[in-house]
Amino acid sequence: MKTIVAPSILSADFAYLGRDVQMLHDSPAQWIHVDVMDGSFVPNISFGFPILEAVRRHTNKFVDVHLMIENPLNYVDQFAQAGADMITIHYEADRHIHRTVQAIHNAGKKAGVAINPATPVHVVKDILLDADMILLMSVNPGFGGQSFIPNTLNRLKELNDLRNSINPNCLIEVDGGVNNMNAVDLIRNGANVFVAENYVFKAGDPFKAIEAILSIQD
Ligand code: DX5
Ligand code: ZN
Repeated sequence: MKTIVAPSILSADFAYLGRDVQMLHDSPAQWIHVDVMDGSFVPNISFGFPILEAVRRHTNKFVDVHLMIENPLNYVDQFAQAGADMITIHYEADRHIHRTVQAIHNAGKKAGVAINPATPVHVVKDILLDADMILLMSVNPGFGGQSFIPNTLNRLKELNDLRNSINPNCLIEVDGGVNNMNAVDLIRNGANVFVAENYVFKAGDPFKAIEAILSIQD
C-alpha cells in the first residue's frame, strides 16, 4: 500500500490559513490532518468548526480530522458537515466507540479510532472490523513538536499483526514526532499514514520533507 503523508495544520499561521492550506494542497502530501483539542481530554485548546470549514474551502484533498475531545458523538454530524473526510475519535474519550464509529459511517465519512501511548494496543481488537483506521499516538496528544516515543515501534508490531488478522484493509496512522528517519522502521512494520507537523512546517523545503517520507521503500 502506498504511504500517505498527512501534514497537520496545527503549525499553520492562522492569519494566513488560506496560504498555508494552499501550500499543502500544492504539495505531494495526499491528506491534510486537522487537530481539534477541547482543553479537557487534552491540556490544550486548538480550534473547531470554522477552521475546518475554511480548510475545506481551500482544498479538495482528503481531510483527516483528529478529535482530541470528550464525548465526540455529540459533534460527529457537525464535523461531517464542516468538511471532514475521516473522523478519528479517541478510545479513551468515549465510552461507546462502537456507537460513535457507526454514527460517523452514517454521516457518510470514514471512521478512525486513536489510542494514547499507554493504552494497551489490544483494546482495539473488537472495533477493528468496523474501523477504517487506527491512529497510534507516538506522543501524548495535545501539542506539536514533541519527541517520538520509541516504544511505539513495539506497539506498531502488535497492532500490525492484529490488523492483518482481523481487517487488512484498515489503515494504521502514526501521529507525533514523525520524521523521515523514524518513518523507515514504521513503514517496514506496517504503518500506512504519517501525520507530520513540525517536521513539515519547520523544514526549509516542506515539499522535499514530504517527498522524503513518500520515497521510503517498504
Ligand atoms: C498532537 C497532535 C499531532 C501533532 C503532531 O497532539 O495530534 O497531530 O500536530 O505534531 P508533530 O508532528 O510536530 O509531533
Ligand atoms: Zn493529530
